[in-house]
Amino acid sequence: KKTKTILDIRRMKVEGEKITVLTAYDYPFARLMDLAGIDMILVGDSVGTVVAGYDNTLPVTLEEMLYHTRAVVRGTSSALVVTDMPFLSYQVDLAEARRNAGRLIKEGGAQAVKLEGGENIAATIRAIVDMDIPVVGHIGLTPQSIHRMGGFRVQGKEDLQARQLLADARAVEQAGAFALVLEGIPAPLAREITETVSIPTIGIGAGVHCDGQVLVIHDILGLCEKYSPKFVKRFADVSETISQGISDYIREVKAGTFPDDEHSFK
Ligand code: KIV
Ligand code: NA
Repeated sequence: KKTKTILDIRRMKVEGEKITVLTAYDYPFARLMDLAGIDMILVGDSVGTVVAGYDNTLPVTLEEMLYHTRAVVRGTSSALVVTDMPFLSYQVDLAEARRNAGRLIKEGGAQAVKLEGGENIAATIRAIVDMDIPVVGHIGLTPQSIHRMGGFRVQGKEDLQARQLLADARAVEQAGAFALVLEGIPAPLAREITETVSIPTIGIGAGVHCDGQVLVIHDILGLCEKYSPKFVKRFADVSETISQGISDYIREVKAGTFPDDEHSFK
């Protein structure tokens, strides 16, 4: 039984309570963060990089997002579950975008979807919101735009880009999104956007003045050695614990000390 809705998330901005968001891709992680009291869980297409081992998020499919969304929803009882629309599931035309957003709600069980883009994607956001599916926007460093950006780079450092991002934020708000992810932009710009729009901003690499924060769970737990952007803080080092457990298992099996009587049937 869900307790959090988009009304709760919107109210938190009004009341000045920070919104906590983490990504999850499966049942056990969703369950642990839900029990810990996270406000929102994002089934991110970052699953492609941190779980599937791709270099970027572009290969992730709608079917894969459906699978991970169902797993996360089963592990969640209180947090709001938002799922990413993967690359090519919403860019081609509005009909396809609407059907795919609908599938993530109907078959996946998510409460909202997230799309990357600003003014260029506003009509798509509107089309999905018009079918009563809540939408989260996502502007700045949008990983699905990696080939345009020429890599994962901070966006909005130059004045022209910064003004475009402000226009993008307004367009996303006007299109009916209920929240907006700001990724990889200078903190002062994120602050200006946060003060400009009425919907909550959720920052990742966007400074402390956003209405909430999101990070990738594998990054904060030290489960992803490959890349570590400046904005990631390791709140735990789980890799060490996992490696230790695996080594101990291998050693005991090789030595014939596992399974012992305690773990065997008489
Ligand atoms: O896919 C993802 O994890 C995301 C967040 C980091 C915003 O889109
Ligand atoms: Na994403």
